[in-house]
Amino acid sequence: MALRLGDIAPDFTAETTEGPIKFHEFIGDNWVVLFSHPKDFTPVCTTERGYMARIKPEFDKRGVKILGLSVDPVDSHQKWSQDIKETQGYAPNYPLIADPERKVANLYDMIHPNALDTLTVRSVFVIGPDKKIKLMLTYPASTGRNFDEILRAVDSLQLTAKHSVATPVNWKHGEDCIIVPSVSDDDAKKKFPGGWKALKPYLRIVPQPRS
Ligand code: BEZ
Repeated sequence: MALRLGDIAPDFTAETTEGPIKFHEFIGDNWVVLFSHPKDFTPVCTTERGYMARIKPEFDKRGVKILGLSVDPVDSHQKWSQDIKETQGYAPNYPLIADPERKVANLYDMIHPNALDTLTVRSVFVIGPDKKIKLMLTYPASTGRNFDEILRAVDSLQLTAKHSVATPVNWKHGEDCIIVPSVSDDDAKKKFPGGWKALKPYLRIVPQPRS
């Protein structure tokens, strides 16, 4: 069955560039971004891995662990890492799952045979500390992802997990939010004592809640 938002992220054991992991233990009390690359030694993936290494401190700040996957063995991943450091200026600093048997790729439905035969497409799963899937994205092999967008989405997910707000189009950290429709005006008065601006009864704008 296909995975859906709100499902528990399937558990697995796997070899990675940083040793074996049990996924649910790896998650622990953290947020996790799990993302697949089609194959080692491919050009778009090389740029993606370098960029993720560069912005890992941004994920660390948010309490998010990052975990890549590629359907090649660990020794291939290690050799590829040298190219990433050489060409992108950043050495990979987070684990990359070795999945030559496609066990994790199949578990997470990362292989879309009508798009790309036996390789994974570019899947992204954001998983919460409750181990539930909060966000899924799927890109084709030929389109490198915008990992700054994943950071932006994590900011939104972490905010909405804490407060009764949603985030509007193109929202960025620090900008105004929207009171979720399930909160009545009476309840909103208690939650947002500073008030809000109602453009419509269902469109209530509040400053971003501070934690
Ligand atoms: C790439 O990473 O550049 C790539 C991988 C598989 C197919 C096409 C492009």
